[in-house]
Amino acid sequence: MEPRRVADGIDWVGAIDWDRKVFDDLVPLTEGTSYNAWLVRGTARTALFDTVDPSMLHVLRARLGGVDRIDYVVSHHAEQDHAGCLPWVMERWPDAEVLASRRGRDLLADELHVDPARIRAVEDGETIDLGGRTVRFLAMPWVHWPETVVSFIPEDGTLLSCDMFGSHVAQSELLAGDGRRAMAGSRRYYAEIMMPFRAQIEKHLDRLATLPIARILPSHGPAWETPAVILGAWREWVSAPPANLAVVLYVSMHGSTRVMAEHLVGALADRGVEVRQFNLTGVDVGELASALVEADTIVFATPTVLAGAHPNAASAAFLVNAIKPKARHLAFVGSHGWAPGKAADQIAGLTSALKAEWLPPVQAKSLPRADDLAAIDRLADEIARRHVRLPA
Ligand code: FEO
Repeated sequence: MEPRRVADGIDWVGAIDWDRKVFDDLVPLTEGTSYNAWLVRGTARTALFDTVDPSMLHVLRARLGGVDRIDYVVSHHAEQDHAGCLPWVMERWPDAEVLASRRGRDLLADELHVDPARIRAVEDGETIDLGGRTVRFLAMPWVHWPETVVSFIPEDGTLLSCDMFGSHVAQSELLAGDGRRAMAGSRRYYAEIMMPFRAQIEKHLDRLATLPIARILPSHGPAWETPAVILGAWREWVSAPPANLAVVLYVSMHGSTRVMAEHLVGALADRGVEVRQFNLTGVDVGELASALVEADTIVFATPTVLAGAHPNAASAAFLVNAIKPKARHLAFVGSHGWAPGKAADQIAGLTSALKAEWLPPVQAKSLPRADDLAAIDRLADEIARRHVRLPA
């Protein structure tokens, strides 16, 4: 395994993890992932940007096998999938200067027990000179940890963007090409990991828009040689108003709540609202999160079980609350055997961090009757009315 060239003086020395099925013990990786590390050479000095997941140390070791000298090791982000092999790199190249943000230095000491005395903290805007190549560090906190920095090389417009613009995609090609596969992966990655930090990312995108970026090298997935494509997509996901889209999340024990959810889905579609319907039992949370990127309404549909919400619905509400989609409306429908209990209140309580308005709940006793379905039709009317965009 040799370094692979992506541009003059820039080699990929990362690892492709074809077999990884889950990240953070939470997010299914339907297409594996990669951990990108980059070796950048100037006429005078060489810098390594990030490392790989510790499980892939053997790959990094092989790719760097012929590299005698590394002058700088830049740690953009202290999370283990990028910094996990830093201790080995520091031991192998003991004279290399390790660079990270101030908070990054602290986190590396905490997470990996790296000696902080060996790490120099760099400030926002600080540069290092590789010889004919300058590296400028840009602080980009909360993408998605507080310590994150990215690097920009103005001489050739290369942005080493860390997790930003990444995708959990394992592929042998280093470049995104037409971007279709990487774009789907990046959207899912944004939804799972970055969506809670929309406000911070919006500011970072504004700052990046002032730079002449010609190439983006993220820490996961393929690199982008047409940066406008991925920059534009991220801008849309972050800043565009919600679309005319409702996402219906349901779980059903004996079919009654399913009847309600499916009736709502049909009623919304009849009224011109695009809908995505998810059965929460065994749901792929990455796919669910990806659907929420542009949703304007999120509907929770759950039966009452043991006087409260079904645990699958509670789990989904907890997740939605954590990833903070931009939806402006929330709704609840559900069936109960003898009493509604606290199901609606519990789901509302679990989503208290969302800045969205709750619409009146629709609750039916057991199998819904005509008046229950009529109430769902009225809910669909209200959702459709609220989704209407008046011309500017
Ligand atoms: Fe890919 Fe936040 O580490």
